[in-house]
Amino acid sequence: QEAQLSIHPVAGRIGAEIRGVRLGAELSQETLTELREALLKYKVIFLRDQQHLDDAGQEAFAQQLGDPVAHPTVPIKQGTEYVLELNSAHGGRADSWHTDVSFVDAYPQASVLRAVVIPQSGGDTVWANTAAAYEGLPDDLKQLVNGLWAVHSNDYDYAAQRNHVSEEAQRYHREVFRSTLYETEHPVVRVHPETGERTLLLGHFVKQIIGLSKADSAQLFNLLQNHVTKLENTVRWRWSAGDVVIWDNRATQHYAVNDYGDQHRVVRRVTVDGDVPVSIDG
Ligand code: SIN
Repeated sequence: QEAQLSIHPVAGRIGAEIRGVRLGAELSQETLTELREALLKYKVIFLRDQQHLDDAGQEAFAQQLGDPVAHPTVPIKQGTEYVLELNSAHGGRADSWHTDVSFVDAYPQASVLRAVVIPQSGGDTVWANTAAAYEGLPDDLKQLVNGLWAVHSNDYDYAAQRNHVSEEAQRYHREVFRSTLYETEHPVVRVHPETGERTLLLGHFVKQIIGLSKADSAQLFNLLQNHVTKLENTVRWRWSAGDVVIWDNRATQHYAVNDYGDQHRVVRRVTVDGDVPVSIDG
């Protein structure tokens, strides 16, 4: 007997907390449908008190959303099939706006992130709604971006662009994250395959907007990213160990706030396979 599921929006344009669900391997069709609908509507859903889930339980839950897929370069956590561990002690700090794995053709449709060790203070994650970001653009800017495409690559060394990046983080990015280089082209405006919404597909893997000079590409990228990350388009989550957060990776970017110094933070992620983005021209 499953408890009554309830939905509690967190911010105005993105994010809802779901209560009354115990995640696991065998959720009812009804619960899965409600979770899927909430995910499409709110883009990111938060579930507290899921301490009962271990790695295998997280994988088994993710499997009900679609086919789990391992990260293309970072080795999976030992003893698991798909789990990517982000451990602050080993440079795993995703403090730059991105959509997960957008450097491959058919990048993941969803990510399931579980909090294992959370600092006493700090270490929140922020998500941005990329459909709201597109919708909020003035018409002339929409016209400009509608037909654009961009190159995404894991060769783009975002770690090096930030201040105070540790040797360990730089080594991790060089030797692990970029052990094999990937590059693909995506439309800047992606039509969401399920909702039909137009979304801005950018984030830190963008190397270049096609057809523009490097300088113009960087300026336009920054202008559009500023729209994506406008505070009104975002939601910020204060983690507790045992929380599980699921996001629609086709309609969001996220940023793990790196404000917790030497405190330890460990989160584990399972991503679910997606499809090749389609532009508004089909
Ligand atoms: C990620 O970028 O998938 C991880 C986000 C986080 O560490 O909160």
